[in-house]
Amino acid sequence: MPRSFIAGIGMYVPENIVTNNDLTKYMDTSDEWIQERTGIKERRYAKRTGETTTTMGIEAAKIAIERAGITPQDIDFIVFATLSPDYYFPGCGVLLQREMKMKEIGALDIRNQCSGFVYALSVADQFIRSGTYKNILVVGSEKHSFGLDFSTRGRNISVIFGDGAGAVVLQPTEKEGHGILSTHLHSDGESAEMLAMFNPGTHANHWMEQPLASFNDAEIADMFMSHKMIDNAENFPVMDGPAVFKKAIVKFPEVIKEALAANNLTTADLNLLVPHQANLRIAQFVQQKLGLRDDQVYNNIQKFGNTTAASIPIALCEAWEQGKVKEGDLVCLAAFGSGFTWGSVLVRW
Ligand SMILES: CC(C)(COP(=O)(O)OP(=O)(O)OC[C@H]1O[C@@H](n2cnc3c(N)ncnc32)[C@H](O)[C@@H]1OP(=O)(O)O)[C@@H](O)C(=O)NCCC(=O)NCCS
Repeated sequence: MPRSFIAGIGMYVPENIVTNNDLTKYMDTSDEWIQERTGIKERRYAKRTGETTTTMGIEAAKIAIERAGITPQDIDFIVFATLSPDYYFPGCGVLLQREMKMKEIGALDIRNQCSGFVYALSVADQFIRSGTYKNILVVGSEKHSFGLDFSTRGRNISVIFGDGAGAVVLQPTEKEGHGILSTHLHSDGESAEMLAMFNPGTHANHWMEQPLASFNDAEIADMFMSHKMIDNAENFPVMDGPAVFKKAIVKFPEVIKEALAANNLTTADLNLLVPHQANLRIAQFVQQKLGLRDDQVYNNIQKFGNTTAASIPIALCEAWEQGKVKEGDLVCLAAFGSGFTWGSVLVRW
């Protein structure tokens, strides 16, 4: 059975840099608070027009495809991970396929938030291992800046997130011991509402301990999106930050250890951990808990904020471009986020 390996990797971040001080124009926050709690100094925001989740994904994909030494027409499957799609439906995968003039291949969108890219890689890996496809494009892209509450009310969330995209091309390899060694996926829906965006949605307050005021229970009504919903700011994400933090620092180390143990390896064998860039404090806690040296962990949240499904491919691409990922290196990708969902991918580069 072949394994899959990352044949090409690319990233794209918008030009527009938004500093912590820039955010103080819109909300009551400070550079000091944001840096101290999250490690973030600045993030990128896409252009208001002409730049979407899909177009950023395309820019990253072009680089990944070129580095893999193939053309868009060689791609035989697309997996696109995002929580901020251009359209509610259809997904970004088909828009990318159309724009990149690819063949009539399958396109799958993944809705797994911060662990979206890990889930996407795992799905793509199964298709390569089974011999179904030979050139799978896996994209993670987010345009958060279009869906955040920039008033003081939303500050605990809005300061964290940024825009950007990353992509890889997965191909089969027969080279012994190389490529993706294993993937490990988990979820626990118990805390689904702790980090979520409820609207637009079909929930009709079914799961809500505290019903949203905007819901209109008339027999036929504009329940999916309403003026009241917008007036009540119930169209923005919500997060119980401390609860997310507590769960993340348990599940990150657990799923990294699971990946190493499954391959009879230890943290001493690890050349690089690329954690989802949720919060620098979470990454530092995980590093400490696993006893990893600074050179064994790659973080770039300081520059880009949390780009959700894009954060791992952006960080991995940067690390690779800086020569921090070399042939034969053992690299672990790990993510945790909304759902809660979490997972890891262990790769021998
Ligand atoms: C969000 C997070 C940074 C908040 O830090 P925290 O220390 O837990 O802060 P709290 O939410 O307890 O809030 C502490 C105070 O800071 C305030 N605060 C929140 N956001 C603020 C901001 N951007 N600027 C200034 N003050 C802020 C709160 O209103 C609160 O004030 P109060 O004590 O007067 O009520 C932190 O919980 C976190 O990083 N959690 C994980 C989030 C995450 O990783 N999400 C992505 C998952 S993939």
